[in-house]
Amino acid sequence: MRLALIHGGRSGEHDVSRASAGSILDHLDREVYQVTELLIGRDGQWHVDGAPVPLTGALHVIRSCDVVFPAMHGPYGEDGRLQALLEWLGVAYVGNGVFASAAGMDKAVTKKLLVADGLRVAGGITLDDGEETVPPGTPLPVFVKPARSGSSLGVSRVTDRADLPAAVRLARIQDRKVLVEQAVPGREVDVAVLQYPDGRLVAGPPLEITVAGGFFDYAAKYDGGAVFQIPAMLDDATTRLLQDRAIQVFRALDCWGLLRVDFFVPDPGATDPEPVVNEVNTFPGMTAASQFPQMWKHAGLSFPELLDVLIATAAD
Ligand code: DAL
Ligand code: MG
Repeated sequence: MRLALIHGGRSGEHDVSRASAGSILDHLDREVYQVTELLIGRDGQWHVDGAPVPLTGALHVIRSCDVVFPAMHGPYGEDGRLQALLEWLGVAYVGNGVFASAAGMDKAVTKKLLVADGLRVAGGITLDDGEETVPPGTPLPVFVKPARSGSSLGVSRVTDRADLPAAVRLARIQDRKVLVEQAVPGREVDVAVLQYPDGRLVAGPPLEITVAGGFFDYAAKYDGGAVFQIPAMLDDATTRLLQDRAIQVFRALDCWGLLRVDFFVPDPGATDPEPVVNEVNTFPGMTAASQFPQMWKHAGLSFPELLDVLIATAAD
């Protein structure tokens, strides 16, 4: 089978995408898949097998393959824009389609769709283009986030009101639309959802993230500053609740192929045990250090087997 692996791209997660693609390449069965690598530079320039090509050349290569694997994170790659191009070309591609990718990339839109479906999300406000002022009564701490970004780029935890303007400016480097979100008490737990070619949706074992002295920021994500516990130490009822909610999120966003849903789980004894959805990742990190492949490994699905399922579920 001829596979086009697209990676890199114009977003701040360019390096993460290249790391994900490297790890995908290391684990694909090369007897089964003949891989052509398409790298998109930070400037948007396409490269095929290392050489720069015009967009038309890249499209020709994509069309000549059986399946496209967009190993892309962040705007331009994970937000529906690349998926729309692949739809126009009529090729089968791995993972989420245009709508789910766009909705899942925008944290403000994601929240609206999930709330409409009865799911719990963190409270907060959205500052649109040019809006700077966080209402004076906003309780702290808050997380200030670009609405459309990933890997915690531009995200700050703010405990002192005086630091709010700088946090908004930092987020604005990534996106003109900024979220100011209430910090949610509780444990940070991720759940992976995988779709099989027969349509079956399976939620994997929950993974708990612990980060010493901070939050799960870019450095902790990729410099090994976080510890993953798989399965998370949760009672069976909480595990099932999280898995059900993760599948509900998958359906609410009209996802395809895969999704990682990141939750906050209230501490035992909390008056309301309902988990809070922090965010979703329509193409979660696939580096050797990333949660998604590790969760499936724990569930008995090796990385090569996981890639086989993702490719077999590719749709056009
Ligand atoms: N956005 C990164 C890749 C993740 O959440 O895994
Ligand atoms: Mg993310």
